[in-house]
Amino acid sequence: MSKQISEEIIEELRHRADIVEIIGEQVALRKKGQNYTGLCPFHQEKTPSFVVSPGKQIYHCFGCGKGGNVFSFLMEREGLTFHETVEKLAARYGMALPEREMSPAQQKQAARTKRFRQINQWAMEFFQHCLASDEGEAARAYFGSRGLDADVIQRFGLGYAPDRWDSLCLDLKAKDVQDEELLLLGLAQQSQRNTLIDKFRNRVMFPIWDDRGNVIGFGGRTLGDGQPKYLNSPDTPLFQKGHHLYALNLAKGTIRQLDQVILMEGYMDVIAAHQHGITQAVASLGTALTDEQAKLLTRYTYQSVICYDADAAGEAASMRGLEILNHHGFQVRVIRIPDGKDPDDYIRAHGKEAFQKLAEKALSLFEYKLVITTQKFDRESMTGKVGIIQAMLPELAKIKSPVARQGYISLMSERLSFPEAAIKEELRRHQGGIIVKPAGAATLQSGERAEGRAQAAILRLLLEDPSRLEIVEEAGGAELFENPHAQTVFVTVQALWQAGHQNLTGEDLVALTEADAQRQWLTGILLEEEIPGDPHKVFQDSLLTLKRSRIEREIKKLMDHLSKLETSGDASRANEIMTRISGLNKEKQTLRP
Ligand code: CTP
Ligand code: MN
Repeated sequence: MSKQISEEIIEELRHRADIVEIIGEQVALRKKGQNYTGLCPFHQEKTPSFVVSPGKQIYHCFGCGKGGNVFSFLMEREGLTFHETVEKLAARYGMALPEREMSPAQQKQAARTKRFRQINQWAMEFFQHCLASDEGEAARAYFGSRGLDADVIQRFGLGYAPDRWDSLCLDLKAKDVQDEELLLLGLAQQSQRNTLIDKFRNRVMFPIWDDRGNVIGFGGRTLGDGQPKYLNSPDTPLFQKGHHLYALNLAKGTIRQLDQVILMEGYMDVIAAHQHGITQAVASLGTALTDEQAKLLTRYTYQSVICYDADAAGEAASMRGLEILNHHGFQVRVIRIPDGKDPDDYIRAHGKEAFQKLAEKALSLFEYKLVITTQKFDRESMTGKVGIIQAMLPELAKIKSPVARQGYISLMSERLSFPEAAIKEELRRHQGGIIVKPAGAATLQSGERAEGRAQAAILRLLLEDPSRLEIVEEAGGAELFENPHAQTVFVTVQALWQAGHQNLTGEDLVALTEADAQRQWLTGILLEEEIPGDPHKVFQDSLLTLKRSRIEREIKKLMDHLSKLETSGDASRANEIMTRISGLNKEKQTLRP
């Protein structure tokens, strides 16, 4: 990024941007008291646990724990960098961003990238030109035989690399492109006689764009049965395998509009889909989906449908892909094409509506795993049924919604003709009798919970009234806070106040907190229900709780120490420690509310 943005501008933007308006564009929000609530966009839920505060200009989800301000919301939801978010908000609120001069190294880099894109663009145009020329007759016939019409050939920039040694090299050299540029971009290679020859020869050509429509590489397919069937650009300064998604530049509008992406395996699948009006399709290009590709998609949607080939390789790739998407928070469903066909063949043979019907019947993650697992066993035999159930228990245990889990237990029971109660019993044993708590639920003992609440209350009340800082410092300061997040917040507040920032608000702290976990903890305590009762009394009681907890921690440490001493037999040291423990116990007695 070529721009550096000043702190003042970021501050100004943070105050101008309205979080309710911005989140409200993506989440249906309802007013509840001083805040707004809605269904969390970061995880699947049926009852709202997502809270947005217009007063504090922050949000927090009490289900999944995500939280932050308008910047973190846009960064996370749309996959933007901080700079991109600032640019987006600045444009929206009509603020000019002053540009900083690029360093000479950055200027050189930017010029190089621009030049490489231009060369690739020329190469694409050359291939398109060849497709339309006399030389391109067989290639045109090939595309025709695969059912492509002129419009889709144009939209996808398809072309033809002639059956000659150096047609592209000659064309580009006439435009002053240097040998090393051709090599770097993977458009040419060294021949055995040490001359430069085209990498792609006698192949139909598929340009690969990045999501902004820059040509970054190519795939070339043989017209017949030659090997390899597809030849792709090697990794180059513009193109890295597994970092891009084919046709994302063409599909991104529909993906946003429908809030859904369809992931396919190959060039021809995606082109067939687009030709038939399924324009939310992209391809991972032969590799199993990567983390980078999943991340890229989060800019556009969190709903994905996988539609890979129906062969074993496709199934394995689907399985890996869905784990990765699931891991990145996507809702994942899987389309299974009947009769072992490629999506390409199916769409051509049956058209858009038939494909949409398949998409509507797409399997959930669990169902898909059940289908795949079932194929590995003989489901008619008792051992087969038990094997399937055993293999599926970890998957069942992962399902957090009790309603969904019950649904899948019924489904398994029905498919396997196996009693529901027996599956439930197996699941109970698998979980070792532990009932899985819903996401985000605390697993704390009541004492720890009281301590957690007290830390949150102290920090909130501290932010409301800086004069309380001195009292907290006297009571023990940072040591009072057992939770590392709470401790960091306290220390930060302390430091900022000492530096003269007495007007610090919770909102300011959120903006200053870059670490996700820290920020999410902070928005959580800031947006918890209002603290009931007299603030002064809550503050005093909380302080007592923390002082007591601190003493308890100290006692526990000493006891541990003591039990170690017993084995070594240092009696005088042990006596010393016991005296300290009894002193601490007395001190604790005085700390009753
Ligand atoms: N692929 C590749 N190199 C190969 C084979 C495949 O890069 N040697 C990638 C291509 O992106 C291809 C995708 O993997 O589109 C899927 O491979 P495959 O199923 O073999 O090809 P199809 O898409 O079925 O190709 P076609 O329909 O053109 O035969
Ligand atoms: Mn195919």
